[in-house]
Amino acid sequence: MDPFARAHAGFCAAFGTEPVGTVFAPGRVNLIGEHVDYNDGLVLPMPLAVGTAVAYGPADNAAVEVVALDFDQARDRFVPHAVAPHGPADWRSYVRGMACGAPGGVRLAIAGSIPRGSGLSSSASLCVAVGRALALARGEAEPAPRAIALAAQRAEHEWAGVRCGIMDQMAVAAGQDGHALLIDCRTLDTRQVPLPQGWAVLVVQSGVVRGLVDGHYNARRADCEAAAQALGVVSLRDVDAARLATARLDPQIARRAAHVVSEIARVETAVAALEGGDLAALGAVLRASHASLRDLFEVSVPPVDRLVDVLNAAIGKQGGARMTGGGFGGAVVAVMAATEVERVRSALEANYQPPDGSALSSMIERASGTAAGMHA
Ligand code: GLA
Repeated sequence: MDPFARAHAGFCAAFGTEPVGTVFAPGRVNLIGEHVDYNDGLVLPMPLAVGTAVAYGPADNAAVEVVALDFDQARDRFVPHAVAPHGPADWRSYVRGMACGAPGGVRLAIAGSIPRGSGLSSSASLCVAVGRALALARGEAEPAPRAIALAAQRAEHEWAGVRCGIMDQMAVAAGQDGHALLIDCRTLDTRQVPLPQGWAVLVVQSGVVRGLVDGHYNARRADCEAAAQALGVVSLRDVDAARLATARLDPQIARRAAHVVSEIARVETAVAALEGGDLAALGAVLRASHASLRDLFEVSVPPVDRLVDVLNAAIGKQGGARMTGGGFGGAVVAVMAATEVERVRSALEANYQPPDGSALSSMIERASGTAAGMHA
């Protein structure tokens, strides 16, 4: 059953009444622009067919009552004006973060289809879906993408303790099927960039599961802030390769900054490649992005490197692959001609075994108007 139908059925079962409505927010895969959102950079994520559905209806009291269908029907119940963070951080932290301070009297049932720990933004998807459901349940209009993205980022910072950028929340709130979303993370201006007809995006699970709250992430962000401070700029968006070449930085800080500055430039090349239908040019920047994340930003892990190598060998020059998301496991993204997908998948089956012993799992996204598919 898809999450929409599960959320609806789960609401009926948990609360003994029909929901008023059900909303959905997708997950996202980032094509390129990794670890640059919190440096005011450019990013190019794409929404996925998988996501989070939330069925909503009124409660006859001042509380928010929630059932999480994917967590053994776990429940939460709180009054939004008096709610404290849930420790340790889990799905409740996000729901409480989105609901706090607003009127209660709402029931929610949540169901998702994003593989957990995959780096495909299950938390941003949860926050945006819950934010939409809460607004509609109170009879308000659905919040604008930018407003709900900022609220979702606040929930992540203040309720889950991850100092994430704004990419995931904007991608989830403003992404359109079959399009990548160019986001300028300094201004929050966005542009829809259609995926060319005949191209396919393959998202493959590495089988290394990321934790929900990631200490490495905040450490990388601190390195970038140290680099900006040493260079006397507000953020690394204000630095180019020439300025970096003459700077005297601690070697680790210099590596982090070199990744960020080169990755922002690669996003511009990737947008031109998508708009020009140039698969080879896109492939080249995907491979360069992975090498930079592995060697300079140091957020990859050996199984992910192996998976990327297998994909790049199978794809050849007409496309490419790289790690996607925060790193330390999760998913890998690859772009190729749609006609090549089955051949590449066969090469994967033959040459990559997920280290957790799970079966190889992947999903495909295509240009809008063509169906996306899941495969496990
Ligand atoms: C996580 C964060 C994002 C972004 C990516 C890395 O997904 O939530 O804000 O920083 O990592 O690009």
